[in-house]
Amino acid sequence: MGGSDEAESICAGALRGVEELATKRLVLRRPMPADANAITAQANNAEVSRWLARMPHPYNRAHADTWIATVNAPQASECAFVITLAATGEIVGACGCGQMEDFDLPQLGYWIGQEHWGNGYATEAAHALIDHVFTASPCAVIGAGCRVANAASRRVIEKCGFQYAGLDMIESRFDGAVVPIFAFRLTRRTWQGLKSWAAA
Ligand SMILES: CC(C)(COP(=O)(O)OP(=O)(O)OC[C@H]1O[C@@H](n2cnc3c(N)ncnc32)[C@H](O)[C@@H]1OP(=O)(O)O)[C@@H](O)C(=O)NCCC(=O)NCCS
Repeated sequence: MGGSDEAESICAGALRGVEELATKRLVLRRPMPADANAITAQANNAEVSRWLARMPHPYNRAHADTWIATVNAPQASECAFVITLAATGEIVGACGCGQMEDFDLPQLGYWIGQEHWGNGYATEAAHALIDHVFTASPCAVIGAGCRVANAASRRVIEKCGFQYAGLDMIESRFDGAVVPIFAFRLTRRTWQGLKSWAAA
């Protein structure tokens, strides 16, 4: 799915060497066991989980504990961060990038708690994570996908410079079925172009 000869594998271990990514309004930091309740409070919402391939629903404290342990394991294939507000430290969501089953390209993923939607947080966090992936790893292409009805996520993906790569199918844990997704890709070359245009 979404394979490419130019794709070099992401090194999740190298990406996890960075503990924090700071943006104008957010701090993306490594998830800690003490975050489990706050993550559960935001993630236990069908309006969030229905759009994510792997998020369980209902989402309980044990799910958060497992996720935190999994993404912090030395062999983890994903680099994940909780997204927090710089001003208060409040957890508003999570994001990550890494190898996912059924995908050749490392995939970008994110979610924001519903009460925090519409503030630009997903885009701001994704920009920081993408910069980190291309800066700290030799990865040549990042993939991203969204359910075909997920217009908000599609918009986030497009605001990050991804280009449409076609229709794909993915197993949805929420639906217990295979569902269609729009697939996107962002090459290092495009990212470099966007960065230099922004600087100019
Ligand atoms: C998708 C999601 C991450 C967006 O988070 P967010 O912080 O609100 O996103 P942003 O504010 O950065 O950007 C959202 C964009 O989508 C647009 N948007 C929101 N709802 C929309 C809709 N129904 N139709 C079209 N565009 C929509 C917003 O206007 C904004 O674009 P703009 O900046 O051009 O105005 C959030 O809704 C979420 O977590 N959803 C559930 C989980 C999920 O879908 N994760 C992604 C899986 S692929």
